[in-house]
Amino acid sequence: MTMTRKRVGILISGRGSNMAALIEAAAAKDYPAEIVLVVSNCHDAKGLEFAKSKNITTAIVDHKKFASREAFEGELQKELAAANVEIVCLAGFMRILTDEFVKRWQGRILNIHPSLLPAFKGTDTHTRALKAGVKTHGATVHFVVPELDSGPIVLQAEVPVMAADDPETLAVRVINVEHRIYPEALRLLAEGKLKIAGEKVIVHD
Ligand code: GRF
Repeated sequence: MTMTRKRVGILISGRGSNMAALIEAAAAKDYPAEIVLVVSNCHDAKGLEFAKSKNITTAIVDHKKFASREAFEGELQKELAAANVEIVCLAGFMRILTDEFVKRWQGRILNIHPSLLPAFKGTDTHTRALKAGVKTHGATVHFVVPELDSGPIVLQAEVPVMAADDPETLAVRVINVEHRIYPEALRLLAEGKLKIAGEKVIVHD
């Protein structure tokens, strides 16, 4: 049976380990999506090298070169359109997107966040989780909505917090599960198995 793979663009700002996990997953023949484009807003994002090494088209759209968020996103949108992108994955992309951009991609744009949302939105999640004394931490893949780190949750994975943890050891445990759930979530979306029902996501066959 032939399968039409969904065309995915990944937006990064740095290391790109989640991007790499998505690229590796999409290398499997039966994966329902292909990564056709990686865009970074930073020239020196490490992830760009990996994407290039896998022969994936990369682009840099430097937000500092644009007078407004709208102008920056206009260029971003141009790159996505030029590559016929159908699904956008944010993977450590450190720019806030306008409501207009998010609404344009509604239901077709995912983000990964290093906490069990709705706990610990924003940055420094591991430090804050340790400070709060939680026993369980983790990661969340969610649909992007205009409000930061909100939006219907697709998948979450928990990790235990150990007494001896510092933010770095906890981050390693969390990133490992991120690399598992992001490809799983993208698979479900690409297969058309996700339905957004209000603030919830229903997974169906
Ligand atoms: C990850 O922890 C992700 O959850 C968060 O930013 C980090 C990006 O790491 N949004 P990487 O660039 O994917 O390695």
